[in-house]
Amino acid sequence: MYEKSIELMNKGVADELWAVHQYMYFHFHCDDRGYDYLAGIFKRTAIEEMGHLEGLAERILLLGGEVEMKTSHGVTKTSDIRQMLELARKMELDAVRDYNQWANECAQNSDNASRKLFEELVGDEEKHADNYDVLIEHLDTYGESFLALQSIERSRKLATE
Ligand SMILES: [Fe+2]
Ligand SMILES: [Fe+2]
Repeated sequence: MYEKSIELMNKGVADELWAVHQYMYFHFHCDDRGYDYLAGIFKRTAIEEMGHLEGLAERILLLGGEVEMKTSHGVTKTSDIRQMLELARKMELDAVRDYNQWANECAQNSDNASRKLFEELVGDEEKHADNYDVLIEHLDTYGESFLALQSIERSRKLATE
């Protein structure tokens, strides 16, 4: 009876793996260019996605399934900050849509613990989407100055080390 839930949770694992890879890739590029604030947000979010992956994996094993460690997408390679943030926001909004739907599917199969897990993830992904949304707003409002300030901050830190 848990087969469908296991299948849905493995789809979640694949999307979480993609998010971990994608956000760490963004983290490396932001870090390389001295955008410490953005680099920190991408890294922290990647770590939270790894926590989601762990939660899904634990429940898959509890239900007697196997954790398919396959990523759902390859990493999109870009060093353009706006493209990074827009892709990240889209990934989060897609996750919100999918996890809501999968929570409903689990409920229909009378698997309420899996439903609850997906619902908790929805809440986290909504917060992530909102964080990226705020950053896109900053970029719209302050443009290059938003990025320039971060580089200046990095130079200051290096000068006082
Ligand atoms: Fe996640
Ligand atoms: Fe997320």
